[in-house]
Amino acid sequence: MRNNKKPTNKEIINAIENQPKISKKTVLSCLLAISNEFHFIPKNAVEIVAKYTGKTMNDVWGVASFYTNFRFTPPGDATLDICWGPSCHILGSQKILKDVHGLLGINQEGETKDGKITLRYSTCLGACSQGPVFAIDHKLYGKASVEKIKEKISDI
Ligand code: FES
Repeated sequence: MRNNKKPTNKEIINAIENQPKISKKTVLSCLLAISNEFHFIPKNAVEIVAKYTGKTMNDVWGVASFYTNFRFTPPGDATLDICWGPSCHILGSQKILKDVHGLLGINQEGETKDGKITLRYSTCLGACSQGPVFAIDHKLYGKASVEKIKEKISDI
């Protein structure tokens, strides 16, 4: 579960300074540290990283926006990944995805209205023989069904 959706400047600086020992803290290493800590890049982080690294805000934003794995809004409390890769597709993931949309009240990737769950589509979660596959906060579950997903997300 994640709950720090508005980190303070001090918390962001702590994330930057608590990076594992590396020879030089770069814009990218700082953004990765912040993303690892908060699961997104807060607005105030761009200016902080710019000051910390001696770069401009444009430099930092250029790096942050280049990598699609960085997100700029807080994720839900938990992330539900549904695989719709080739193996899972053959095993019925499209129907599961459609049912999950109904279950969560959303019709695409993103956060539920209550901010509890982030839904993401995956092209392969690496467990094709167990398909269809889903994951909650990177914990994999095979032989997916909407009932199984409903059960696993019920205590989030
Ligand atoms: S295609 Fe779904 S886990 Fe590989």
